[in-house]
Amino acid sequence: MSATARHPAYLVRPGLIRPVAPAGHGAFDAALAGRSSRLCLDDGRCVTLPARRWHAAASKADQWLLRQCHGPTLDLGCGPGRMVEALLTAGVSALGVDCSPVAVSQCRARGVPVVHGDVFGPLPRSGEWQHVLLADGNIGIGGDPLALLRRAASLLNRDGSVLVETGTSASGWWSGQACLHDDSGGVVGSWFPWAFLDLSRLADLARGAELSMVDVHRGSSRCFARLSRRTASEADGLGSRGS
Ligand SMILES: C[S@@+](CC[C@H](N)C(=O)[O-])C[C@H]1O[C@@H](n2cnc3c(N)ncnc32)[C@H](O)[C@@H]1O
Repeated sequence: MSATARHPAYLVRPGLIRPVAPAGHGAFDAALAGRSSRLCLDDGRCVTLPARRWHAAASKADQWLLRQCHGPTLDLGCGPGRMVEALLTAGVSALGVDCSPVAVSQCRARGVPVVHGDVFGPLPRSGEWQHVLLADGNIGIGGDPLALLRRAASLLNRDGSVLVETGTSASGWWSGQACLHDDSGGVVGSWFPWAFLDLSRLADLARGAELSMVDVHRGSSRCFARLSRRTASEADGLGSRGS
């Protein structure tokens, strides 16, 4: 019996990782196309992706996140576009962004407006968005949640907020390289930088991105937070307390 068969959760040998997809471009294609739902990490663990959820309509569990959106909303890493679709149905203007051609064509088939691009690249109406969404694990995009939160904050208008979904357990965070595997354990796609983060680390990271964690919602299986742009006085106050 092979080592892989004996230890199905440990399919990847740490230290042998060659990242070849700089920002995860196309790295989720197999999951988006229904050929994989296993994300394997460079520490040997594998996690199951909720790929079916991405294709379904937004559910009851998404409602808290959706209810926080009152104005123009940019959904970073929108996948097939369920959140954008739900916002438009609720009369909130919204736009998806995704670097995967598969996700972009799925959005278009659904009639959802989408920009094909990298969340760290040029995006429309930068600095004018009322809300930026990082739903369903997307705080992991790029493998550096602080850089991603700073990027999200830079897209907001003065009163804007970032709406983030985090992990539910107190598992802290993980950052490294990841890739998709099919059901028989074969790699599908390229290694790419990714991260996981639970709520306990989010407030600290938010401060590093000039954001404040102002609200939290713990559902039965999912966890969300609202991060608002900090005012100059909040930032000054914290600066003087810290000096
Ligand atoms: C977890 S899935 C999307 C789930 C979706 N937010 C939802 O709630 O249904 C992650 C998505 O992020 C996209 N993605 C990953 N890195 C990206 C990047 N640097 N720029 C844009 N999209 C990215 C992937 O192509 C994929 O569609």
